[in-house]
Amino acid sequence: MKPRTTTIRDLYSLKKVEEKIVCVTAYDATMARLVAKAGVDLILVGDSLGMVVQGHENTLEVTLEQMIYHCRMVSRGAQGPFLTADLPFGTFQVSTQKGVESAVRLLKEGRVQSVKIEGAAPGVITIIKQLVAHGIPVMGHLGLTPQSVHKFGGFVKQGSDSNSGRKIKEDALKLQDAGVHALVLECIPAQLAEEITSRLEIPTIGIGAGPSCDGQVLVINDILGLDERFAPKFAKKYAKLAKIIRESVQQFSQEVKKEIFPS
Ligand code: KIV
Repeated sequence: MKPRTTTIRDLYSLKKVEEKIVCVTAYDATMARLVAKAGVDLILVGDSLGMVVQGHENTLEVTLEQMIYHCRMVSRGAQGPFLTADLPFGTFQVSTQKGVESAVRLLKEGRVQSVKIEGAAPGVITIIKQLVAHGIPVMGHLGLTPQSVHKFGGFVKQGSDSNSGRKIKEDALKLQDAGVHALVLECIPAQLAEEITSRLEIPTIGIGAGPSCDGQVLVINDILGLDERFAPKFAKKYAKLAKIIRESVQQFSQEVKKEIFPS
């Protein structure tokens, strides 16, 4: 039986009835199929793929072509959840036209239902308004926006002092006015996320932003414990797949060497 498809209206309804929104990242068809079967509401094809799939230090090198490639895989695997994809670094900062063209390609070729864009700079607000006017849903992203890692001097918590906290609150309202359908709040104090969540009509999706957001997002590799070297402090490992994978391949390897497999 085909699972019910989550629409943008369902995401609004979840906020209204105070049911938490569940979002995870996915980057290929196999994982998308599994997380969809687990019943998540939303899948984000995040540019975190630059780090957890491609092995880069940050997300800056991810290209639009790569993002489209991953979105196509995810959209083939995922039946049911609402699909959002990141507009990668460099695909919207240059001009409104480039931002709109990039978003159109993510929907048309990547087959996602909405795009996520980091920040609330005046140029970003203009692009969001254009996209929304053309019927393209946009998700906002404030706080620790990874594409600004060099401006922040690392992946460090944002909004801890009153000035930067106030700025994030103002930006959240600006993004809502511009028409975003949801807002990711990354690595900000829980109290700030709570204030923003109660001020906004659109759902907030937190990551390292405390329990009061309307939903939570985690990178799937962190949930599954796929990296034994590193995990963000705020993430929770629900499995230790790195160990299982390593031991399974070791066992296969030994069996081949000892001519146990194939029997
Ligand atoms: O790129 C990503 O996966 C993200 C989430 C961590 C919010 O932006």
